[in-house]
Amino acid sequence: MAGRIPQPFIDDVVARSDIVEIIGARVPLKKAGREFKACCPFHNEKSPSFWVSPDKQFYHCFGCGAHGTVIGFLMQYEKMEFFDAVADLAQRAGLEVPREAQKSGEPGSVDLHNVMGLIARFFEQNLADNIRAQKYVDARGIDAKTTAKFALGYAPDSWDALLNRFGSQEEERRQIHQLGMIIDRDTRGGERAAGFYDRFRDRLMFPIRDSRGRVIGFGGRIIDQGEPKYLNSPETPLFHKGRELYGLYEARQARSDFKRLMIVEGYMDVVRLHQAGITYAVATLGTATTQEHLNKVFRLTSEVVFCFDGDRAGRQAAWRAMENSLPLARDGRELKFMFLPEGHDPDTLVAEEGPDAFENRLNSALPLSEYLIQQLAIEVDLTHVDGRAKLKALAAPLFARMPEGIYREMLADRLAARVSMPAAALKKSFLAGAAAGANSAAMDRPEPSMRHRSRISSGRGNLLTQAITLILHYPAAAAAVSDTEGLDQVDRPGVAVLKELLKQAAAASNPSTAVLLEQWRDLPEYERLAELAMAEPLVAGAEGAAKELQMAVEKLIQECGPGRRMDELLRKAEELGLNYDEKAELSLLLKSKGRPRANP
Ligand code: UTP
Ligand code: MN
Repeated sequence: MAGRIPQPFIDDVVARSDIVEIIGARVPLKKAGREFKACCPFHNEKSPSFWVSPDKQFYHCFGCGAHGTVIGFLMQYEKMEFFDAVADLAQRAGLEVPREAQKSGEPGSVDLHNVMGLIARFFEQNLADNIRAQKYVDARGIDAKTTAKFALGYAPDSWDALLNRFGSQEEERRQIHQLGMIIDRDTRGGERAAGFYDRFRDRLMFPIRDSRGRVIGFGGRIIDQGEPKYLNSPETPLFHKGRELYGLYEARQARSDFKRLMIVEGYMDVVRLHQAGITYAVATLGTATTQEHLNKVFRLTSEVVFCFDGDRAGRQAAWRAMENSLPLARDGRELKFMFLPEGHDPDTLVAEEGPDAFENRLNSALPLSEYLIQQLAIEVDLTHVDGRAKLKALAAPLFARMPEGIYREMLADRLAARVSMPAAALKKSFLAGAAAGANSAAMDRPEPSMRHRSRISSGRGNLLTQAITLILHYPAAAAAVSDTEGLDQVDRPGVAVLKELLKQAAAASNPSTAVLLEQWRDLPEYERLAELAMAEPLVAGAEGAAKELQMAVEKLIQECGPGRRMDELLRKAEELGLNYDEKAELSLLLKSKGRPRANP
């Protein structure tokens, strides 16, 4: 079986392609300074907000957020698969696509995808053969066409139906175990007999598909009563719950240009909404909506409506979704919140009132800022000065999570009106608060992860973000960094990304932003890196970038590496004084490490 395309070949293809030429052949580009612009081909607009950078070999729309490399463009514009896009570009460059040979006995993801496809068909067949399961589907009001469209299936009421069908050989068993379809008794209970059993038993099965329609996981609802009501595939090499949306593939099949996508809570809701003609409904898989979800969704549309049940759980889920959306609330995007009457979910409601009435509810959906203020206002008494101060305090951290732009302005304006304060003054106090918080916390609070954009301050960001951004914008500047060993001592999540980028930039013969980004395409960090790639450059010119990068890395090593203790002691010496041992320690550190940090 054919293997993956080797990464160096992909680098080469990207380096030899010219994004301006490829995009220019499909979209009329106009030169604007060093870059090119056009009306965005991915959303409707009258004035151009689509930019193509020949330096970065990257495109970006400030309106809808679409972005990517030349490969990404072909995938998005021509709806090509990754492989086809690379092959197309390779052909233009006169190259032949090599494939990495696969080590025998080590199944690639192609095999795993195939197995999942077979399993989905097995479940479908079981549904067709099982009267009780059929009756359940009927009782839930799902028709045959919808059953087929979603490839619904049934996992038999048995401990080993799947195991026997797909796991009779050891190698097969290893695969279906890796896919989360069987459970190893050894890792549970302990004293029970060794062996495997089926994870999904007596459940209506909802296959979860990736953007190419391949089955990567399942959700299973117990037929009738039982606990848990829904069971999902665990995390596997194919399936990451926080990244997938149920129904997205089916929604894209229905049409490729959405006015909006609606995010609902349940599998059944998606299926019933689609059946009723509302084919832009998708669901998270029993988790809160993540930024990864939203990044995915905003690549397809500029309007997202969250639809929640009217009960307490629904309201809580809505608040979490709102918090997670704040960093993505950008100009040109709409985020709305819609609540259904208590006791209803989209499934029951659309059955009761029909699709038109249901869609009419969209008109009363609340824009993010309105929803946010409304919820905060419930918690405080706005007739008192105290209440207004509290509202302001509650809103400040939320404000800080939003990127600059119309959205944030709008929130500040609305809030100012509610607390009877001039908008300008409110914004100023928010921004001052955010800056103070960022400075004092910068050293102590480690960054959780590269991809949690919200925690990384916007603008120039912290040192790590700055260094990463500089490399992405000016890959050649990476050569200026000599002390990569010092980075080994820096204990911060995200530093691994920096090191990897430095390595990649040094290894590439012709590094560009796009060449670097393509190496991260399938990794969770990709979206965050792409965002940094399209951020405003921190400096103009490669020379300045090299200097800045070197400084940022040095500072990072000083602040977070072994030099951090020295800083602590210096600060303490200034503020409280040191005891005897500390003085000795500091003088030792000063001797061994040299200069103290310039501005603590
Ligand atoms: P709900 O409990 O709201 O169920 O769960 P529902 O969608 O209305 O299902 P029906 O109508 O009773 O069949 C909403 C979503 O939460 C996740 C599932 O993704 C489900 O679709 N969930 C729920 C779980 O993951 N596990 C559970 O036990 C329950
Ligand atoms: Mn329901």
